[in-house]
Amino acid sequence: MTHRTIKGTHDILPEDSVRWQELERVIYDVAASYGYNEIRTPIFENTNLFSRSIGEYTDIVSKEMYSWEDRSGGSLTLRPELTAPVARAYIQHNLGSKSPLQRMYYIGPLFRRERPQKGRQRQFHQFGIEAFGSEFPEQDAEIIAVGNTIFSELGLKDISLKLNSLGSSTCRNKYTKALKDYLTPHKDSLSATSQKRLESNPLRILETKNPEEQKLIADAPSITDFWTADDKEHFSTVQNLLNGLNIPYELDHQMVRGLDYYTRTTFEFISGNLGAQDAICGGGRYDGLVETLGGKPTPAIGFAAGMERILLSMDISKDDAKINTVYLINLVESASGQALFIANELRELGCYVIMDTLRRSLKAQLRDANRIGAVKAVIIGEDELKNKTVQIKDLSSGEQEEIVMNDLVKHFTV
Ligand code: HAM
Repeated sequence: MTHRTIKGTHDILPEDSVRWQELERVIYDVAASYGYNEIRTPIFENTNLFSRSIGEYTDIVSKEMYSWEDRSGGSLTLRPELTAPVARAYIQHNLGSKSPLQRMYYIGPLFRRERPQKGRQRQFHQFGIEAFGSEFPEQDAEIIAVGNTIFSELGLKDISLKLNSLGSSTCRNKYTKALKDYLTPHKDSLSATSQKRLESNPLRILETKNPEEQKLIADAPSITDFWTADDKEHFSTVQNLLNGLNIPYELDHQMVRGLDYYTRTTFEFISGNLGAQDAICGGGRYDGLVETLGGKPTPAIGFAAGMERILLSMDISKDDAKINTVYLINLVESASGQALFIANELRELGCYVIMDTLRRSLKAQLRDANRIGAVKAVIIGEDELKNKTVQIKDLSSGEQEEIVMNDLVKHFTV
């Protein structure tokens, strides 16, 4: 075939979109129930929005962005994440002046030029939430609770929550220096990647998968020794609030996350059935980002979750989504108008009504009705038309009854 999707990108086919819509519905409902409103930002932005906020030396900015020079000369980038664009919009539209607390959520595609594998694409989708304005731990607990509620509504099993605090930015800077000082004498035993990170982004070495480096890290200074009294209090209140909400978590002081804007609370939800790409959601506080981007100092916290990874780890059966589906089978050409009219009447009652437009046989249409998971078939044949009746076939039990055509709406009214 001449034309195919580009490596790392996927079509979402009609047969799969039912699951996507189901997932989106849960996100809309839960986000609304916590008072979050949707924000939609453009797919591309100025490149320096991302380099300033995510960090010049992160993997995302240094090697994964799709950037190009615009005809007018500036550099543009397909968004690799949405926190920076949402913070940009927050500043640009002065949202802080409209309300001291802004709660927003988003759903949309993102682009990172990573090596594709299960759960990792070059175009993928995230939903995420961001709250601007509150520095207090109850906001951290609320953000984590939204994620937790969405994952439990979706019936995700084998999910765990990892929690850390990177402290305030001064704490983070001091710790980065201490870690660098500790690792520098061991530089020659580090991998080439870690050697580079030692100069550009030492914290990322904490997440190494290399067993030799892990041993080294075990004796490295810990972030916990660099927290200020306020950092400690903030983090212990977050933990108390999560305990009160019965949200279990594990502390992981080596989880630093791959974006530079984080301060204090950071977290990831991990799925036990995804293999290597097991993070379904990551987030944290970014109290300095709005100011870095030119806005007033504004504390903020949020998370984003990979929708492909969620769908890989959940099981929404297609049939569940089609509980009200009726397959209307008309076998008489001259009755098409009547059949279309009946179909609309049933739709007004809230049913999904599917009709064949290929004039296939009764057998072929019943096969199709079963394939799509319809609950009932309504059949109009020559005899029924003559007698002003219809046949109603229950597609799970196979039972069939004849009713008067005029009673059809009553039959489907519950
Ligand atoms: P992130 O950890 O880079 O954080 O991404 C969040 C989630 O997006 C990951 O946990 C994963 O589920 C999904 N994800 C990331 N890259 C890929 C990929 N190549 N293919 C499939 N899924 C992927 C952020 O993006 C931050 N903006 C999160 C945030 C919001 N922090 C505060 N607010």
